Amino acid sequence: MFRFLTAGESHGPALTMIVEGLPAGLPIEKEHIDSDLRRRQGGYGRGGRMKIEKDAVQFLSGVRHGKALGSPITLHIENKDWVNWEERMNTAPVEAEIEPVTRVRPGHADFTGSIKYGHDDVRNSIERSSSRETASRVAVGGLCREFLAQFGITIRSHVLSIVDVGYESTRGMRAEDYNDQMWQVVEESPVRCADAALTEKMIERILAAKREGDTCGGVFEVVAFGAPIGLGTFSQWDRRLSGRLGQAMMSIPSVKAMEIGAGFGASRTTGSHVHDVLRHGEDGSWYHLSNNAGGIEGGITNGEPIVVRVAVKPIPTLAHPLPSIDLATKENIDESRYERSDVCVVPAAGVVGEAMMAIVLTEALIEKCGGDSLTEMLRNYHAFTQA
Ligand SMILES: Cc1cc2nc3c(=O)[nH]c(=O)nc-3n(C[C@H](O)[C@H](O)[C@H](O)COP(=O)(O)O)c2cc1C
Repeated sequence: MFRFLTAGESHGPALTMIVEGLPAGLPIEKEHIDSDLRRRQGGYGRGGRMKIEKDAVQFLSGVRHGKALGSPITLHIENKDWVNWEERMNTAPVEAEIEPVTRVRPGHADFTGSIKYGHDDVRNSIERSSSRETASRVAVGGLCREFLAQFGITIRSHVLSIVDVGYESTRGMRAEDYNDQMWQVVEESPVRCADAALTEKMIERILAAKREGDTCGGVFEVVAFGAPIGLGTFSQWDRRLSGRLGQAMMSIPSVKAMEIGAGFGASRTTGSHVHDVLRHGEDGSWYHLSNNAGGIEGGITNGEPIVVRVAVKPIPTLAHPLPSIDLATKENIDESRYERSDVCVVPAAGVVGEAMMAIVLTEALIEKCGGDSLTEMLRNYHAFTQA
């Protein structure tokens, strides 16, 4: 069984993750995980915090000489900004008078978290609801990618649109359009877009929003290549891979919608235009003539790339703040508060989406081919896929 927990406040001393269930003998390269952490910190439209943090993971348990031991793996990411917050975020009581945050930002967890937990300082809810927590997921997802790589599974993401600038078709790229050159362009694009002309327009759109004190949302796509037929199941509602991907993607802060394969588009046409015709190749392989199912049929992977598209709302912290309320005085106020913030996080959210895909596929692959060591799992995997 694969499971993990994350802990840590945005401006606390560190983020901590405990991961259990990865097989003994799995090679783990710290640099691969650090590289994913750097990708999450990038993207045009990020704020000042990303200049302070230089995320890098430290292993505190479960790994020896570059290989997993099979025991729980503890990961640690230091928050470099902690030095500026030691007093405000100290775990012990402090003598200084700390002014509580009471003006709530519409669209963030300021209001809901404060009412739910009975906090009179909004800071107590925004520290954990902050997307800083997604660095933890990217680190865990990085470990999962190390695991999936052993089975030939790779995961990529790219940005399809920022506000109203993007691909004309909401279905974005077609299966045959994915190739190494495209992913290289994506990695070099400041907005992680596969089209150089669109990259320029997206940057202009972000700049225009920034000038107006506003923020931008958009859509990213995550694709997993190389997953075998047979991950996930229809046998219980909560084990369907489609549902598990939905939970994973929808849990990313600021995500408001997700579709698999043709998604909403499939609802606007008829069955003969949607379902992917099956074929059996001379080499003994099964394949489909199209991939409108996005790689999942009946909650189970069908051997095609797994394709999900995810809609991100414009982030809530606006340089020109919206009217709101003050929780302490219970007054309606003209402006909520502004604090250092990003303007557009769609490219970074895509990297978090890759991590969530890696986590879901790792859990499903361990269910299918579980074992205590990597050797045992690879044996189970090959026995199943070559049967
Ligand atoms: C990578 C990433 C970075 C984010 N950075 C910010 C930010 O700087 N300012 C902000 O207001 N929201 C930011 N958000 C969005 C908030 O975390 C999110 O809107 C908030 O937690 C409320 O959750 P909800 O939007 O899912 O309801 C970011 C989201 C992600 C995925």
